[in-house]
Amino acid sequence: MTILALETSCDETAVAIVREGNSGSASELLASEVASQIAAHEKYGGIVPEIASRNHLIYASRLLNRAAGLAKINLSEMDAFAATSGPGLASSLMIGASIAKGLAIGFGKPYLAINHLEGHLLSPFFGSGQEKNQIRPNVSLIVSGGHTMLVQVQALNEYTLIGRTVDDAAGEAFDKVAKLLGLGYPGGPEIEGHARGGDFNRFDLPRSMPDSENFSFSGLKTAVRYLLPKIAGPFCEPRTPSGLTQTPYKLDRQVLADVCASFQQAIIDVLVCKTIAAAKKYRFNLVTVSGGVSCNQELRKQLEEACTREGFEFKNAEPWLCTDNAAMIAFTALLRLQAGFQSDVTEEIDPNLALAK
Ligand code: KG4
Ligand code: ZN
Repeated sequence: MTILALETSCDETAVAIVREGNSGSASELLASEVASQIAAHEKYGGIVPEIASRNHLIYASRLLNRAAGLAKINLSEMDAFAATSGPGLASSLMIGASIAKGLAIGFGKPYLAINHLEGHLLSPFFGSGQEKNQIRPNVSLIVSGGHTMLVQVQALNEYTLIGRTVDDAAGEAFDKVAKLLGLGYPGGPEIEGHARGGDFNRFDLPRSMPDSENFSFSGLKTAVRYLLPKIAGPFCEPRTPSGLTQTPYKLDRQVLADVCASFQQAIIDVLVCKTIAAAKKYRFNLVTVSGGVSCNQELRKQLEEACTREGFEFKNAEPWLCTDNAAMIAFTALLRLQAGFQSDVTEEIDPNLALAK
């Protein structure tokens, strides 16, 4: 069984082809192509939906051909077509879903509408090892630019929400603080890079909602905003035309490293603490983490150490599978097709699609 999936939920266009392995359980990646639109939106200071849609259309057709060429397979040989149907930007989701539906109708094959968050959630199980493809019960932390949530995973399609952010997502906090510091986008890798030589104990930043299963990161971002004028030198010139971005503060190199390390550690402490508490409370032996922020090496390391200390098994996706991609969508579609799920081509995209109640 071979599946082609498109992912166009935001500003990344992605196409991937995944094949069921010989054993019927392992799955094999034949192609995974991603085209970023960061440069096209940078000068506007945020994503412009119409530009995103127009670019998705251009990139998707190129990536479809490139993925099929790399996989050495014709589109007519696919067993099903899938696309992200939410959550995300409506006009972006519509492009990928329409293309996948068109292919499914044209070739007379099944169509699968996939929840982007389920793609992230299952990504730690994607791989060539046999045990990789078995979705085992776990507590899952999804940390991305748009979402931060803890989920109980009983089995495929059986998810219960434990907690979620009540304001900013963790990745959004990384991006906003990076902007305050005059660093580039996406902010996560920038802050991680600068944090390497920093002292994470130097600045005392808040760990919000310690007794809740939900998360909050906007207070942390505000704390950094108030801290900067106290420790910064004179203002820098804005990097882009006025009004489009905040004026970044000029910090000494070591101070910048210390702010980045202190901020990053505040986020990690909250993520690790709540994940471990959830695994204990709901009695899971396995902890998984996914989403763009889980590329962060310090988070991966500290979460793994905490799991080992508490006697939990820990699984994370390879870094290339953590940020938005279509391989996780194709993998999820493959598991769902194997389990007998299919979608109707009349199924609409849903910008607010929920993963679990
Ligand atoms: O999963 P993703 O690609 O897109 C969403 O579904 O949102 O996540 C993107 C987010 C961005 O906010 C980015 O800053 C963050 O993931 N990110 C990181 C790192 N790499 C990406 N955050 C912290 N450390 C990183 N190394
Ligand atoms: Zn994502």
